Amino acid sequence: MKRIFSPLRLRSWVTAGCSSILASSLLFSAAPASYGQMSGSSYANSATNSAAQQRLLNWWKNAVVYEIYPRSFQDTNGDGIGDLNGITEHLDYLKQLGIDAIWISPMYPSPQVDFGYDISDYEAIDPQYGTMADFDRLIAEANKRHIRIMLDMVMNHSSDKHPWFLESRSSRNNPKRDWYVWKDGKGETATSQGQPPNNWQSAFGHSAWQWDPKTRQYYYHKFYIQQPDFNWNNPEVQQAFDKILNFWMNKGVAGFRFDAITTLFEDPSMTDEKVVLGKDGKPKINAFGDEVVDGKKTDNLPKNHVEIAHIRSVMDTAPDNSFPGKRVMIGETYVPTINDLLKMYGTTQKPEFELPMDTQIGFINKLNVAAFRSKINDAETRLDGNVPLIVFENHDNPRIDARYGDGVHDTDITRVISTILFATRGASLFYYGSEIGMKTTPPTRKEDVRDPVGITGWPKEKGRDGERTPMQWDDSKYAGFSTVKPWLPIPPNKATINVKMEQAEPNSILAWYESLIRLKKTNPALRSGSNVMLDTANTKVLSWLRKGPNGNNVIVATNFTAEPQTVNLSAVSAGVMGTHLTTLLKTPGASDPASITAVALPAFGVYIGTVKE
Ligand code: GLC
Repeated sequence: MKRIFSPLRLRSWVTAGCSSILASSLLFSAAPASYGQMSGSSYANSATNSAAQQRLLNWWKNAVVYEIYPRSFQDTNGDGIGDLNGITEHLDYLKQLGIDAIWISPMYPSPQVDFGYDISDYEAIDPQYGTMADFDRLIAEANKRHIRIMLDMVMNHSSDKHPWFLESRSSRNNPKRDWYVWKDGKGETATSQGQPPNNWQSAFGHSAWQWDPKTRQYYYHKFYIQQPDFNWNNPEVQQAFDKILNFWMNKGVAGFRFDAITTLFEDPSMTDEKVVLGKDGKPKINAFGDEVVDGKKTDNLPKNHVEIAHIRSVMDTAPDNSFPGKRVMIGETYVPTINDLLKMYGTTQKPEFELPMDTQIGFINKLNVAAFRSKINDAETRLDGNVPLIVFENHDNPRIDARYGDGVHDTDITRVISTILFATRGASLFYYGSEIGMKTTPPTRKEDVRDPVGITGWPKEKGRDGERTPMQWDDSKYAGFSTVKPWLPIPPNKATINVKMEQAEPNSILAWYESLIRLKKTNPALRSGSNVMLDTANTKVLSWLRKGPNGNNVIVATNFTAEPQTVNLSAVSAGVMGTHLTTLLKTPGASDPASITAVALPAFGVYIGTVKE
């Protein structure tokens, strides 16, 4: 979240690139058994089949999770807005892609000020997206295909139209008053509202405090004015959310992505945050025109961990009545350091997230070999053996083209980035449309902006519409997304970037994603091997070894430059003596190397091969 709204949010829109496409080669082994082989109760009762049980319990450790922004995936009822039936309709496509789970961004009833992240009922479906029956059908159909469904859980705030907040703001004595964060203003009098209680700022711009004239106090909102923060010091809030989590788990969801989880608690002192100074000694000003504050009183407070551990205990003790396997917590964990990320896993006694997002790697935002090497190595060596969740894209950040592309080699660069996503150890999370190389398409006129962030921040901050454009299924007028004008415009590049076309093209980005995912799921070294960085002084090529079980070793090399490179990937120092390679996957133009000591890569090329004696 921090990343989204920081001045670092990169806005170098580049033109569509093209690249030559040659043959790629791929060898797979047989697909592993999947969780669908056992039903929930047979899983729970089957003491005899412990290998299958382990697979079910550990499904998330090498998982591929696909984020769907439901508004933009597929419209089936002709209103220009995607819906749940649209997700169900494409389950076979997702199955073919090889994913294990879908995370659906909020589809609960909402006034849609923040497009679903302002929830007015946590136990229902917004009619824009369908009905509860549609949801149940989605779960059933997904499970048939061994795809798990995970939901977005927004606990930091609700909508200001949620009945809880309506009650809370109705009077100072209302029993729900203390469910939200209320505070007197500074210097308030009978006739004036005074000033906000402190200098805390909304991530969406300007003061985080909103005056409520009826009860004459301010309420706190880390995000939009219509998103009042819950008071997590009130145990009733916790109880309410325990019930909500169980409601969805009983419906068979496989877990949740916990939204804005680092901002649940605020510093009880309620004192000002420090203003951040620029090099000139003057306060830094952000895209909203506000002085930048350090966030130390509102973000990443130690008390969050107590609550996250509590949520984990609720998840771990939920009855196993409909979901086979372990339910999993993904965290929206934009934290500043690897040590902060480590804390997100909790301890053996008090576990927290299974999969807090590793935003250290994916949001480096420049193709810098040393930075990637160091961050991937951190994930391998400084997370106490926990599973990293690698992620590059989501609904809050410009897509890969805008953060890593050069406008000429974007297709090849996407291959490089996706190789890091799927061929390093851990779980992988990606965003709808990544698999076809969809590009960021921001609005060009203020009047077209839909995201409130862009409305407040225009023109410096154009908001997040650019990464939320409709899925490009084909090259028809509305890209196969809808039969009517969609809520956001279809990018003109739908003519060359679309599922239908890429399905027919063996060297498309879509084919590359499918190949990488299949390798990740089937190759023993890529499934579970450790990462050992190779050729570590090289500043042009990032290479690593996946050291797997039973002498299964795979090397991966990615060229970060527009010039061909040849690298020596001898892994003798890692105890791997093999001198030759058998190609598993390579980008167009890469050759099969004669020896491990001379692996030739074209511009932004990728090579993956098994090490042989
Ligand atoms: C998270 C979501 C973002 C939303 C914000 C407020 O950062 O990813 O889309 O606007 O929380 O809920």
